Amino acid sequence: MRWIFILFIAAIALVLVQCDTNPYKQGKVLYEQNCQNCHQEDGHAVRGLIPPLAKSEYLSDPEQVACIIRNGLKGEITVNGEKYNHEMPPNLVLTPTQISNIINYINNSWGNKHPFVSYNKVAESLKACGDEFL
Ligand code: HEC
Repeated sequence: MRWIFILFIAAIALVLVQCDTNPYKQGKVLYEQNCQNCHQEDGHAVRGLIPPLAKSEYLSDPEQVACIIRNGLKGEITVNGEKYNHEMPPNLVLTPTQISNIINYINNSWGNKHPFVSYNKVAESLKACGDEFL
């Protein structure tokens, strides 16, 4: 009987470990902590104030997105046919790995479907836009 119990505990432990290291899940948690306040849980943001991430044309260029996350963004932009002109603050605490996970999360949520973006690609893009964290 005891080995069944041990097997059961081992199975639960395995599931927990997998949840914790799943990059998509990590991306979701990081999104909730760093982006959701502004861009909202459903990625539709706040009309007229903060642009949506759902179906945003900006996401087709992951290099640019990495730099937007690190350095923030200001000036007039057009997303899904609507103009926005507010300021997104820089984020200096996220690591390149965390930024990759966030990008892969937003790229595959709310109906978005973009190809996987590797850590190397994100690290390269961050370097190109002057990231000093690398
Ligand atoms: C304090 C509010 C705020 C936070 C937090 C924030 N953003 Fe933004 N974000 C904005 C605003 C405002 C703009 C538009 C800037 C402009 O008008 O030039 C923007 C623009 C963007 C854009 C380009 C336009 C679009 O809609 O596709 C992306 C991509 C983006 N943000 C992703 C993120 C991600 C990912 C995070 C979390 C790591 C994040 N933002 C955190 C406010 C925020």
